[in-house]
Amino acid sequence: MGQQQEIAKRRTFAIISHPDAGKTTLTEKFLLYGGAIQTAGAVKSNKIRKGATSDFMEIERQRGISVSTSVMTFEYGGVLMNLLDTPGHKDFAEDTYRTLTAVDSVVLVIDSTKGVEPQTERLMEVCRMRNTPVIVFINKLDLEGRDAFSLLDELEEKLSIRVRPLSWPIGVGATFQGVYDLFDHDLRLFEAGKTKKELADERIDDLADPRLDSLLGSDPAAELRSEVELVNGVYDPLDVTAYRKGAVAPVFFGSAFNNFGVREVLDTFIRIAPPPGPRDTDQGTVSPEDPAFSGFVFKIHANLDPNHRDRVAFLRICSGQFKRNTFYHHVRLNKQLRFANPTAFLAAQKSLVEEAWPGDVIGLFDTGNFKIGDTLTDGANFNFRGIPAFSPELFRELVNMDPMRSKQLDKGIRQLTEEGVAQLFTQQPGNKKIVGCVGELQFDVIRYRLEHEYGANCAFQAIAAHKACWLTSDDPAALQAFIRIKSTQVVQDKDDNPVFMAPSAYMLDLERRNNPEISFHLTNEFKTLQV
Ligand code: G4P
Repeated sequence: MGQQQEIAKRRTFAIISHPDAGKTTLTEKFLLYGGAIQTAGAVKSNKIRKGATSDFMEIERQRGISVSTSVMTFEYGGVLMNLLDTPGHKDFAEDTYRTLTAVDSVVLVIDSTKGVEPQTERLMEVCRMRNTPVIVFINKLDLEGRDAFSLLDELEEKLSIRVRPLSWPIGVGATFQGVYDLFDHDLRLFEAGKTKKELADERIDDLADPRLDSLLGSDPAAELRSEVELVNGVYDPLDVTAYRKGAVAPVFFGSAFNNFGVREVLDTFIRIAPPPGPRDTDQGTVSPEDPAFSGFVFKIHANLDPNHRDRVAFLRICSGQFKRNTFYHHVRLNKQLRFANPTAFLAAQKSLVEEAWPGDVIGLFDTGNFKIGDTLTDGANFNFRGIPAFSPELFRELVNMDPMRSKQLDKGIRQLTEEGVAQLFTQQPGNKKIVGCVGELQFDVIRYRLEHEYGANCAFQAIAAHKACWLTSDDPAALQAFIRIKSTQVVQDKDDNPVFMAPSAYMLDLERRNNPEISFHLTNEFKTLQV
């Protein structure tokens, strides 16, 4: 098969959700359909159980699970699916954001009883930065969830995306009877505990068909007729081009746990989700069809066990063909590297990769050469863009508790932040180190790893910071003046860019208004995210 066909058959995507909405359950059903696993329960949730905040065995166990399920490759309907897993715990959300830079589309799971939750909004902001196409699965229809119309309104309003339902629920919770497929005009009837195979689908082209009344009962049938009329009146037919640009999201209803409505999502997914597409670099766009190999590292996994200091760098291939035991160019280090044991991941097994194509993700054993965002090429000197750092949510000053081991502490925190465990900012004079994380758990992990891997002893001291804002301006003098006046609140990121530590949302707003010539960005790629 040629490169063109290899690209055309691949779909690289992630399933994302607020914790507990059903991401793991849906993933498992996808894998069952793809034949990658044989029994339900084979995919362990990568969630760190509640209350396990200082249990490092638990964290490591979960991290172990999440590395082996980092990329799940399976075939469905002649399509090669690369499903990238994302951490379930909100404290590791930054990992999820970075994984989203390596996919071509996402499936977003919403809990119908809860609607759009905070983590959903944040994840969608990240998708919108790259106009990632989204298919929505509204889950848990077997529970007393919210009204379908109000859920759709909330999706449009809170996620700033147009929606187009492709199926419509009949009843909800105790009265849930199934869904009407608005595309194929099939009636899919639901019975808890039974798979769809055991229940016949009824094709009902015209909803006026009296069979609808005998199948559903006359009141639910009448309700379905009027709701479908409303849906078709309110929402335009699905425009696949708009979906691929991330402007409109098809929506499905179902119950992952009961395997209801899952196949419909998969069938639509393989029809409309985009294959690997072009990617932006600092030297222009790279097309997957380009014969020269290129890829970037979006995640690094290090072992917490000091006896096994191995790290795995996850590389997304963007163009050309990757071959085992071939020298490639590490752009940042200007170094030739060769990989004898690149691995593919599939549920619990890892296997050696001889070759890989655009859209594939491979694991490279790393002895410290890689940082998140690094580019690997056939020899060309360019860097992929779009692997941004986001403002952390929590900030602490790193305090050295053992002055005899400050070198170890410096090295440790530098390496851990290169892995993407947290972000490091420094403040001059005094070389004060500020660590930014998304969740409390990350500080525990850092302290533990600094102690066990580097023999350094640290404490974290609270500081008053609300958001990190990267500063830019067309007026260098104004920027320098701001940095001078706010010297106690301006720090440097890892690349020495100036960053304003906004003490509160109010102060950030005030500074924005007082300094219109300066832009305050919540990511280092300088596309403004909403606060
Ligand atoms: P997550 O990965 O998004 O965090 O969610 P996960 O799939 O682990 O699902 C969270 C909980 O919701 C699980 O229950 C799961 O069984 C349940 N669930 C998923 N889909 C449905 C559905 O369609 N209907 C209903 N009623 N429940 C659903 P749990 O009790 O927290 O975990 P477990 O003990 O079942 O693993």
